[in-house]
Amino acid sequence: MSTDDHKDSHLVKQEDLPEGVILRDHVVDGIQEYDQRLPFWWLCILFSVIAFSIVYWLVLDDRSFNGSAHQELEAQLQAVAAKRLANSIDVTNDDLFFEMAGTAQFVSAGENTFMTNCVACHGKELQGGIGFNLVDEEWVHGSNPSEIYNTIAHGVPEKGMQAWESQLGQKRIAEVVAFVLSKNPGLKP
Ligand code: HEC
Repeated sequence: MSTDDHKDSHLVKQEDLPEGVILRDHVVDGIQEYDQRLPFWWLCILFSVIAFSIVYWLVLDDRSFNGSAHQELEAQLQAVAAKRLANSIDVTNDDLFFEMAGTAQFVSAGENTFMTNCVACHGKELQGGIGFNLVDEEWVHGSNPSEIYNTIAHGVPEKGMQAWESQLGQKRIAEVVAFVLSKNPGLKP
């Protein structure tokens, strides 16, 4: 047929091609196809990208492989939790304050804090002065350790007793409470 002849005249023939260039048999709508090896440089890039992705997945992105990032995070969270526990005192637990009052380490730490921050108004023997006596039986703001803690933490600003919470923090105030408890025989569990 004449149309086919016309088409065929445009087709490339194997024998016209340089050595090593292979032409595949089929023709689709006048389109022919070479059967060539991909260029070496192109294959190099392909395989090195594949290799890199595997190495990356196994070694660098360890979330998916050995889970060490996850473990690290877990360990960090535990460290934070432990630290928070060590620094946090249940300031509503009266028993805990009495326990601290029986522990020399807390009492002497509390004494240090008292002698630095409180002695000017409450006296060396806690006998009072500008501030109230802390070794008598009279407690205006409550005599439970947790109440004493609250008085110190939040103060009585209008009466000249400042709030100490932001300056001393929970632990040091709790130590001061322990120190006061150890000095005041009227305060018992
Ligand atoms: C500038 C002086 C001043 C300093 C410093 C001071 N206080 Fe006071 N404190 C007072 C005064 C004044 C009052 C009495 C408040 C009132 O009239 O209610 C008081 C009251 C108290 C009370 C309440 C006593 C009660 O009867 O309920 C406690 C407990 C106390 N202070 C502990 C401390 C501790 C512990 C410190 C140190 C961290 C301290 N204060 C530092 C002036 C001071």
